[in-house]
Amino acid sequence: MKSAWGALVLAAGKGTRMKSSTAKVLQPILQEPMVFYPLKALSECGPIPIGVVVGYGKEGVCAYLKDKWPQVTTMEQRLQRGTGDAVKISSSFWQDFDNLLILPGDVPLITADTIKRLMDLHLERRSSLTFISFSASNPAGYGRVIRSDGKIRIVEERDASTEELSVREVNSGIYAFSTFALIRYIDELSCENSQGEYYLTDLIEIFQQKNLKVDVVLVNDEDEFLGVNDPLQLAKATALLKNSLVRRHMEEGVKCADPESTWIGPQVTFEGEAFLAPYVQIYGNTSIGERSSIGSFSILRDCKLENDVCIHPHVIIENSIIKGNAIVGPFAYLRDETELGQNSFAGKFVEIKKSKVGSGSKVPHLSYIGDATIGEGTNIGAGTITCNYDGKRKHPTKIGNRCFVGSDTMLVAPVELEDDVTTGAGSVITENVPSGALALARARQRNILGWKKNKEDIKDKNDGGRSE
Ligand code: UD1
Ligand code: MG
Repeated sequence: MKSAWGALVLAAGKGTRMKSSTAKVLQPILQEPMVFYPLKALSECGPIPIGVVVGYGKEGVCAYLKDKWPQVTTMEQRLQRGTGDAVKISSSFWQDFDNLLILPGDVPLITADTIKRLMDLHLERRSSLTFISFSASNPAGYGRVIRSDGKIRIVEERDASTEELSVREVNSGIYAFSTFALIRYIDELSCENSQGEYYLTDLIEIFQQKNLKVDVVLVNDEDEFLGVNDPLQLAKATALLKNSLVRRHMEEGVKCADPESTWIGPQVTFEGEAFLAPYVQIYGNTSIGERSSIGSFSILRDCKLENDVCIHPHVIIENSIIKGNAIVGPFAYLRDETELGQNSFAGKFVEIKKSKVGSGSKVPHLSYIGDATIGEGTNIGAGTITCNYDGKRKHPTKIGNRCFVGSDTMLVAPVELEDDVTTGAGSVITENVPSGALALARARQRNILGWKKNKEDIKDKNDGGRSE
């Protein structure tokens, strides 16, 4: 059965103007590859099958798509011979749909609302092709929309006359095609232009020559169609997206002390009110619980913070869960599936990796906790380290409930402290400790009396009583 709509994202180009060895569509914006944005907007338009044309840097692009967008079909354009060619080589993907949306991979500000409007207008007006144009304050780099004698053409910048270059109305690169017309006429594209490429935009003229209906929707907001071709446009798109995301969350009650210096990625969610100090960055798939606060210069990525969590300044948390009322930092680094329990505390200069800290437990100062589970109500003394790596493999450390681990304890993994264990400060624990025991693993102190005086006497004898 035919499906009404399909969507194609063109992402094979090298992005020469970006001057980078990374494929243009993988250039990061708020720590998501650029192609994330059109894919997200399309996925918000309903269950539309999506294809992506890959080419330059395809290994990286395909790896990203397979990981984050497994539902997307990829097609390879071996030689980047233009946007028209990219659509042509992927016809096996789109020929069975009634209508096809085409988006470039380099328009990260595009919204689902605009795409939906384009789809509605295309169907309402029964056009063979509907595309979006906008009025650019600086049209440089875009294809100019030339209207004359009731006809529309797009002239690419490099092929435009001086008069055409002064036209402000430009092509967004976003189209809705009737696939019936597209399949019929795509072979009529030629590459006789200054770049020797097959321009998809030439179909506008071809369709009109065949008396097919072409519609253009002129949209006012130029920012939404910003095409990102070079580092300056990449920075501009980042700033626009950042500002709009921060504004949107503030409208929902998030308090940013300094919105200008606050960076929030597109997948971040807030469950209610939260407090963000200046210079906070939150990225990836992160959710922030109600009334949680995040201190300056802290960076969170792929984390879940429950309610009433307090993150002090200078904290980095990656891929971890922080439960209700926990406190972190300042100067802490939590990573790799760490879980801090309710009311727990990871304090100053503490690194916790792939570990679980039970509720009410504390790691207040200068510790490394790796591959460990810590029970509830346990206190880890300053300077405690889990020695989890033997040079070849990582080993686990298990610490029970209500333990008191003395300062500067080295826990040589694999090792277990059962419940209610105490360790003496400075102990090197290499063996398991049974419940309720005190483990002391250090040399007993010896006081050698009169040590300083004896030393001075010996010195006096050796230099014959001469002193320097
Ligand atoms: C294109 C349009 C231009 C429009 C602008 C909007 C054409 C000929 N020009 O120009 O009218 O104003 O977008 O931003 O379509 N790509 C491929 N294969 C190729 C070439 C490009 O997949 O062989 C992809 C690129 O990866 C990119 C997209 O198509 O995502 C657009 O290509 P780009 O080179 O950026 O075109 P523009 O010069 O921006
Ligand atoms: Mg472009």
